[in-house]
Amino acid sequence: MYFQRLPLVGFLTTALGLSWNTSSSSASSPTITSPTPNECPTGPALPTNPHLSNGLALTPPMGWSSWNQFGDQIDEILIRDTIQTMASNGLKDAGYVFVNLDDGWQRYKGNRSANPLEADPVKFPSGIKALADFAHAHGFKLGIYSGPGQSTCAGYTGSEGHEDEDAAMFASWGIDHLKYDSCCSHEHAPKSEVQKIVLKMSKALLAQSHPIVYHACHCGWADIWEWAADEGANQWRIGQDISDEFNYPGNREKYYFDVLDMLDRGNELVKYSGPGHWNDYDMLIVGLNGNSSQLVGTGASNIEYRTHFSMWAMVASPLLIGSDVRTLDTYSLQTLTNKEVIEVSQDPLGNAAETVGVGEEAGGDLQVYAKEMLDGSYAVALLNRGSFTAEMSISPRRDLTMPWDQYRLRDLWKHKEGTYDVPYTTEVMPHEAKVLRLWQVQANASMCFFQ
Ligand code: GAL
Repeated sequence: MYFQRLPLVGFLTTALGLSWNTSSSSASSPTITSPTPNECPTGPALPTNPHLSNGLALTPPMGWSSWNQFGDQIDEILIRDTIQTMASNGLKDAGYVFVNLDDGWQRYKGNRSANPLEADPVKFPSGIKALADFAHAHGFKLGIYSGPGQSTCAGYTGSEGHEDEDAAMFASWGIDHLKYDSCCSHEHAPKSEVQKIVLKMSKALLAQSHPIVYHACHCGWADIWEWAADEGANQWRIGQDISDEFNYPGNREKYYFDVLDMLDRGNELVKYSGPGHWNDYDMLIVGLNGNSSQLVGTGASNIEYRTHFSMWAMVASPLLIGSDVRTLDTYSLQTLTNKEVIEVSQDPLGNAAETVGVGEEAGGDLQVYAKEMLDGSYAVALLNRGSFTAEMSISPRRDLTMPWDQYRLRDLWKHKEGTYDVPYTTEVMPHEAKVLRLWQVQANASMCFFQ
């Protein structure tokens, strides 16, 4: 069963005539370009054969993954502590239920032809099934990692030639999520071969009675967004690894993306995303503060991390925390547990926001993202990518082509709202995203404002 996108994006992209001034600029009217009109909105690529679906991940998966902070230095004590911490610090209540072991749980390094795939008995003496039982008993789901090559990116034994056997083993352990990573083993493989190996594991997982969410990780190569949903994948990375940076000039070390790179790349790919099949902008960097054992980057500011999180929610990326949840500071925890922003991520309609207007006067640094929500409201992000505080504004009638004379607008970070019959204007700091939600107000309702 696949989701058919509503025509929202088409008319949003034709309609926005945004108005804003950067505070450093003169009073003259800014020039705004609307993206090229799209008369015939296209939905996500509809599945062609083999048209597989496991019916899972109807909203973007939320949870934690071990890689960004710990690399392959993981063990069952860390995972149990992580589960217990998430159960008590509000993360589980906010919806983060997947706890995913990334690379490094395996016993052997080297080729699969020479080694079996087993859990490392030193790191995981109780075994993975016991860990899955522990996760389930605490209301979580356990994820695991493998790849279609002889070995994985970190050099551990892969699944090549043993796909059915491994899928059955994961299911027998009670595994709920598989990241199947072909970035290293199949980096230079032709698309047809990548399609074959993604499909092979998909079928192997579908043959199991235990449901397993399937992440086909191919680092944004082989146009994976065009075909992975057809093959039953629930998520796929749209780019190479993220770095712990908001905006690093260029493609860092010729490989790593940053937050803005991912957003730019994803903006072209929105139509491929929907319930059950998501563009994955990579794991969250909130709380890493430059301390990742794996990612390059010196960290981001609190505001930048908050913007990154807000935008991942707007674009309906999976939300997998990549930092050490045991040491998260209050600000990071408040960022990750903002239930109103999480509602934007988890909206059952499953729309992914895209840019609906760009402020040329600010060199394209001011962007407005919007998406329609199931209840008919709109989630809007006013994103300032630049270095100066800017005034940005939004009006439903003018910008969203919604004939609303009055509207209720709520700032999802300030947790304040008001009703308006004129465009709403606000100052947006450098690298900040204001996340707003707008509802129509019926005639004769009284007006109120917030500061
Ligand atoms: C990379 C992948 C990372 C991580 C790593 C493990 O290919 O992009 O997210 O999974 O492999 O070795």
